[in-house]
Amino acid sequence: MSESTIDAHTTEFGYFDDQQKEYVITTPFTPTPWINYLGNDGFYGLISNTAGGYSFYQDPKFRRLTRYRYNSVPVDTSGRYFYLKCDDHIWSASGRPVQQQPEKYECRHGMGYSRFLVSHQEIDSELTCFVPLGEKAEVHRLILKNSGERHRKISLFSYIEWCLWNAEDDGSNFQRNLSTGEVEVEDGVIYHKTEFRERRNHYAFYSVNQPISGFDTDRECFLGPYRGVENPVSVEQGKATNSHAHGWSPIASHHLEVELAPGEERTLVFVLGYCEVAKENKWQSPGIINKAPAREMINRYKSQYDVQKALTALATHWDTLLGNFRLNSPDPKLNRSLNIWNQYQNMVTFNLSRSASFYESGIGRGMGFRDSNQDTIGFAHMVPEKVRERILDLSATQKSDGSAYHQYQPLTKKGNANIGGNFNDDPMWMVLSTVNYIKETGDFSILDEKVGFDGDVSEEPNHFEHLRRAFEHVVNNLGPHGLPLIGRADWNDCLNLNCFSEDPNESYQTTQRGKSDVAESLMIAGQFVLYGQDFVQLCIQLGKRDLAHNAQQQVDKMREAVLAHGWDGQWFLRAYNAKGEKIGSHENKEGKIFIESQGFCVMAGIGIKDGKARQALDSVEQRLATPHGIMLNQPAFSTYDKHLGEISSYPPGYKENAGIFCHNNPWIMVAEAMLGRGEKALEYFASISPAYLQHMQQQHKTEPYVYSQMIAGNDAATPGQAKNSWLTGTAAWCYYAATQYILGIKPDYAGLIITPSIPAHWPSFVVSRRFRKAHYCIEVNNPYGLGAGKVQLEIDGKAVAGNLIDYAQFSGEHHITATIVQS
Ligand code: GLC
Ligand code: GLC
Repeated sequence: MSESTIDAHTTEFGYFDDQQKEYVITTPFTPTPWINYLGNDGFYGLISNTAGGYSFYQDPKFRRLTRYRYNSVPVDTSGRYFYLKCDDHIWSASGRPVQQQPEKYECRHGMGYSRFLVSHQEIDSELTCFVPLGEKAEVHRLILKNSGERHRKISLFSYIEWCLWNAEDDGSNFQRNLSTGEVEVEDGVIYHKTEFRERRNHYAFYSVNQPISGFDTDRECFLGPYRGVENPVSVEQGKATNSHAHGWSPIASHHLEVELAPGEERTLVFVLGYCEVAKENKWQSPGIINKAPAREMINRYKSQYDVQKALTALATHWDTLLGNFRLNSPDPKLNRSLNIWNQYQNMVTFNLSRSASFYESGIGRGMGFRDSNQDTIGFAHMVPEKVRERILDLSATQKSDGSAYHQYQPLTKKGNANIGGNFNDDPMWMVLSTVNYIKETGDFSILDEKVGFDGDVSEEPNHFEHLRRAFEHVVNNLGPHGLPLIGRADWNDCLNLNCFSEDPNESYQTTQRGKSDVAESLMIAGQFVLYGQDFVQLCIQLGKRDLAHNAQQQVDKMREAVLAHGWDGQWFLRAYNAKGEKIGSHENKEGKIFIESQGFCVMAGIGIKDGKARQALDSVEQRLATPHGIMLNQPAFSTYDKHLGEISSYPPGYKENAGIFCHNNPWIMVAEAMLGRGEKALEYFASISPAYLQHMQQQHKTEPYVYSQMIAGNDAATPGQAKNSWLTGTAAWCYYAATQYILGIKPDYAGLIITPSIPAHWPSFVVSRRFRKAHYCIEVNNPYGLGAGKVQLEIDGKAVAGNLIDYAQFSGEHHITATIVQS
């Protein structure tokens, strides 16, 4: 069966077109705006299924190009809009914001582009928005076609609204901002140059490759007083006003008259670009900006052929990236997830961390230390160079005591002082990212890179030393039971055991009262054993025997501490609070069991021998699992408790308070797969993975092609309803769990290890995977219906002992068969 024929079922909102690697949306009125991301390399755009959203360069807070109105009604207002007026009909080339619905509408979200196909009044339009590779611009290609028998005259208006660069200031400092806006118009190109006169050496522009008959740059003139983007007065009148913005709200709108004979087609190319100029070269003449870089950029997309070339290059780029890993399994939905959308989402989360989505305003957060380190595990097989750079950027924000700034700004690459540190799980995530990177690439040289602490370049130890201090930071911060102190919070930002907040205006994350030398975390304990072992292995690889030995002792001590003080009888405790009392114990009235410590302790291998691991996972299944995924804790907290912090602030069933916080579900998948229970692991995968949720899109609400951060749990009024799509660690972790633990294709220092843990009823599956210098076609057979066990390997027809494909022996293409046999 070919992939595109499976599950071709169209819902009321759309369907997958796997051949094109697209999700096709068939109505503008999806339950929430269903979005896509444009851009790969610094210039990014968020684009909804009606072309709403915004663009920025590098930093969504400090370099915002266009404005977006979060929290506005109607939702999803502002974007790249094209208005068409023909005879007395007015409609949008993307289905909105004009209220009049076109006769036909379709949005195709693909890999790095979104395409809108609209037909109305015998005029077809095809709008394709994308960011060409390596370009600091969004290109909007609009093809108009007269599909009727009459000669037609179309009045076309483009529209974007400029943001005055600093998005936070733009939305608050009106007393200043309503006076600073400045534009220039030259040769039909609209330049946005607010604050260029002072300290900015950059501007933006919006161009079109054909003569215009008018323009507007002042929002009020274009829309008309007290009107919105759904019915601009200029469009209604079929005429631009040639307005010049002086302060207020600058926009860019081109007006073009397009005449089309029957059957005739016209292609227009719009470029929304960002230019930086050298300080000494800013001005062309007094008050007139240097437009040379803009002209060059515009020139690169002069013709429709240039644009086609750039689109083809983008498609090839994605084919190559996705070609590094390809699965053909008996489960078509798993194939679809892993081959296309999961990897694509990995790229987006890697690029944007948690900064800009339709749920993250782009002004609140930079690149999270723990989040970004985790994101790399979904991406290292695709673009290892970028992962290397990211890890070193993160490393540079580590402090000399091994702790880390919780976030950094992508523009400055400096740790974010407002948020600070003391999230005690942060440091060890860098061991995960680094080890995973080295295992993928074999590149140990990353460890020798000189990196200063906290941006300080006077003392430059190497990256390895940063890992060592991360490890030491845990050892140096142990509590009364020998377990790691939690600090402000561990992975669960909302379990704030040292905050005691009673003031609604203070942040749970940054407030810390009293001493924090009592509250301990079992999640960090498990994390330390898991990545501590990785650190030990790394030391051994490097021939650092003493260090390995000492580290091993610390890891062993921690394992013992977990067994002595972290086992509650049927599952692992979650924490000890600031009074030394148990959290996540059967003794508690609420929050008796939490998911994080079960996931991390079992992944660390604790209790595997004596059955505790199995028991912990069985408790997860009995107490936390639902058809929509695994809840974070049970029972939910019914009232606010200042000794627990933000977790108890959420209504039961939402977010960290007994919601299905998808990010941690794959930890349980990994754990289940490790115990050889691949079927259960895949069942958990299917419960939160969008490709499996097509039958419940209205209930689920968010995009049916990407993971969401949270799905409401059983205690909620709306179980199964998702929120916060796109920017979530769920993407990288689900990909990691499925590929490395369920399918069991696991990069290691010496090569690829094959250790599948699949459903017993799968007869076989095939993975095609690039790894270092070779490309392997790996066929895993399960003739005895075991699903897991020992593996017999054949490489190019020759039997090989063990389950390792030794990388040193191979380059080029190779065929592997792995047969699962009784162990
Ligand atoms: C959010 C944060 C992440 C945190 C999680 C749990 O997803 O980005 O850092 O671990 O919430 O609180
Ligand atoms: C809130 C959210 C949590 C997120 C944190 C980031 O606490 O519930 O998911 O990680 O904010 O600051």
